[in-house]
Amino acid sequence: MKRLFVKTYGCQMNVYDSARMADLLAPLGYAPTDTPDGADMVILNTCHIREKAAEKVYSELGRLRKMKEEKAQGGARMMIAVAGCVAQAEGEEIVRRQSAVDLVVGPQSYHRLPEMIAKVARAGGQALETDFPAEDKFDALPAQSANAGPSVFLTVQEGCDKFCTFCVVPYTRGNEYSRPVVQILEEARRLADLGAREITLLGQNVNAYRGIGPDREDWTLAKLLHALSRVDGIERLRYTTSHPRDMSDDLIAAHGEIEGLMPYLHLPVQSGSDAILAAMNRQHTADEYRRIVDRIRAARGDIALSSDFIVGFPGESDRDFKDTMTLIRDIGYAGAFSFKYSKRPGTPASAARKQVPEDVKAARLEALQSLLIEQQRAFNRSCEGRTLSVLFEKPGRQTGQAIGRSPYLQAVHVDGADDMIGQIRDVKIVSVGPNSLKGALAGAKTRDAAPVL
Ligand code: 5AD
Ligand code: SF4
Repeated sequence: MKRLFVKTYGCQMNVYDSARMADLLAPLGYAPTDTPDGADMVILNTCHIREKAAEKVYSELGRLRKMKEEKAQGGARMMIAVAGCVAQAEGEEIVRRQSAVDLVVGPQSYHRLPEMIAKVARAGGQALETDFPAEDKFDALPAQSANAGPSVFLTVQEGCDKFCTFCVVPYTRGNEYSRPVVQILEEARRLADLGAREITLLGQNVNAYRGIGPDREDWTLAKLLHALSRVDGIERLRYTTSHPRDMSDDLIAAHGEIEGLMPYLHLPVQSGSDAILAAMNRQHTADEYRRIVDRIRAARGDIALSSDFIVGFPGESDRDFKDTMTLIRDIGYAGAFSFKYSKRPGTPASAARKQVPEDVKAARLEALQSLLIEQQRAFNRSCEGRTLSVLFEKPGRQTGQAIGRSPYLQAVHVDGADDMIGQIRDVKIVSVGPNSLKGALAGAKTRDAAPVL
């Protein structure tokens, strides 16, 4: 048996890709290990969304180089692969800068890993593969084999055609591509057979999904969700990440029609200022976003929302920032991710002249985060005393305890529930901590009917 260590950075899409890489290498005799020490193959599955992402990868590679040299002294070989969005963006540069790297493989080409490994093992040297067509990849990937637990990810869409002016994704993940419906349904059935109860559909711009259906028509995400809701064993569905512009009528309606579609939606708005939204090329105004949220809430009254925010986008004035704070107050979020704007090479905004000073960005981020944390705490407190359906995922730290997720993705700890992993149970929320809820089992198993807020 050879040992495979995969280090995953960034988003859930990368988590999914890492699992698929492990599936792909299993037939070559690689078994996963949780340390790079002594591993025969190390894959860094990288993310390019944060600042200095490439530099962090190069310093990690420096550390791995030493391990590789130590292993070589003992007469054994460690192969090092760089995958993911930094591999796509840096390409040749990685091979040039770090000779210890054996393989560089982009997010749309990692299905070629086995042949690349064989080539490098046979002939030595470095192999680079950063082609784009996602179709080939999904066709070539083996069936998922590992039991990933009760809650799993399934990539249905990749790439993005939106070209927000701050974002690298359209350059690293390429054009939008949607997997065919039949392929997704097959994978969902297989995941259900392996014990999955909840599937989160992944895509950089997942609600722009337009996959070819068995009827040769293009299916929307709403239609796909309806079909998935009929897969035996799958009781909960989620999808992420969505763009407000692609919240189509049928998708909004689906939130009211599909009981198992969880009432928690990540719908990034980035800013509440129309001028900044326009400069970001988001293609909607703050009021249009408000109206979309109103319609989603009309379809499903108990829905909770989360978002991403960027503060200090080039040209953002105090007034623009105030508009963002107003929008947050108007919507009321149950969770959020927020970031200081930082330049990404090659994106239009990075060339803008009016960059916001670092201290202004820091002050705005602090104000914004304290408002969002306050809202999140208030939302969590509103759950105290309620009965929520919980999908139990893993044992807790204390004996007999199990940890699961509420419909709103909150972690819920329940004593005496360790035999319920993989099941969905009604849980009465008895107390609320900063990062999780504590609950007690309440009555018999039900489907996911979350009480209205
Ligand atoms: N600067 C700051 N945040 C960014 N994001 C994407 N690009 C940048 C950038 N250049 C954030 C956005 C996006 C999330 C995944 O990362 O908020 O929704
Ligand atoms: Fe990036 Fe999302 Fe905008 Fe696409 S929609 S460019 S992934 S921020």
